[in-house]
Amino acid sequence: MNVGQPLYIVMLGAPGAGKGTQARLLSEALGLPQVSSGDIFRENLKNQTPLGLLAKQYMDAGGLVPDDVTINMVMDRLGRPDCARGVILDGFPRTLAQADALDQALQSRGQRIGVAPLLEVADEAVIARLAGRRVCRECQAMYNIDSSPSQVEGKCDKCGGELYRRADDDPETVRNRLFVYYKQTAPLIGYYYAHRLLVPLSGDRPVEVVQADLRAAVDAAASAQVH
Ligand code: AP5
Repeated sequence: MNVGQPLYIVMLGAPGAGKGTQARLLSEALGLPQVSSGDIFRENLKNQTPLGLLAKQYMDAGGLVPDDVTINMVMDRLGRPDCARGVILDGFPRTLAQADALDQALQSRGQRIGVAPLLEVADEAVIARLAGRRVCRECQAMYNIDSSPSQVEGKCDKCGGELYRRADDDPETVRNRLFVYYKQTAPLIGYYYAHRLLVPLSGDRPVEVVQADLRAAVDAAASAQVH
């Protein structure tokens, strides 16, 4: 895909809506990096860095890591060479302050966000999905014991790594994550709608059907950037 200028895609949706699943497929299809703030925090925690240990306090409770820490971390990531053609943002921005910081950083380089797809899934469905989610410790491949189980229980089909359940996926923490989502992240729906970037998609359909609609939305945004 030739987009002329870098294509910035902001994936929106509640915890468990499928942002990571869809961002990963889109990343493979477009050759753009997936930048997931949650993955960066988890990688730091795995390596026991000060950032990881700080983030853990918030993640375990289902709350948000403070804006200043998160914004600095993501901006640093966006400055790396592999982001030069664009990026698929998954889990960032998550507050109006983060959205504003992102806009300002892009504006200072004469760039802007291309599209903000919103995956819509009912609360009860995401609670059920997250209860069944399993993630590979090695390659981060995603499974679900109900809808997309691995061939051998507890082992990754792709690399043989151990599958684990995220500490913040128990139903009580998920309810708090949903509460935090509605309070702090849902205002971004209005923000991107007002900027004419929002594309709502039903996320409660098979993964490949959602991906096809997402690709159409992204292709339209890329072609609007060129013309
Ligand atoms: P993060 O890792 O970003 O978690 P999240 O936003 O809560 O999103 P999830 O990863 O839980 O869900 P997802 O939408 O990616 O769904 P997935 O594709 O995995 O953040 C974790 C924590 O880090 C936060 O709580 C916060 O503390 C901190 N943090 C991160 N970013 C931050 C920020 N910017 N500011 C401050 N703090 C931040 O799918 C879920 C399951 O459903 C899987 O099992 C999957 O297989 C299945 N599934 C996916 N699609 C479908 C489908 N169409 N049909 C059926 N099942 C499906």
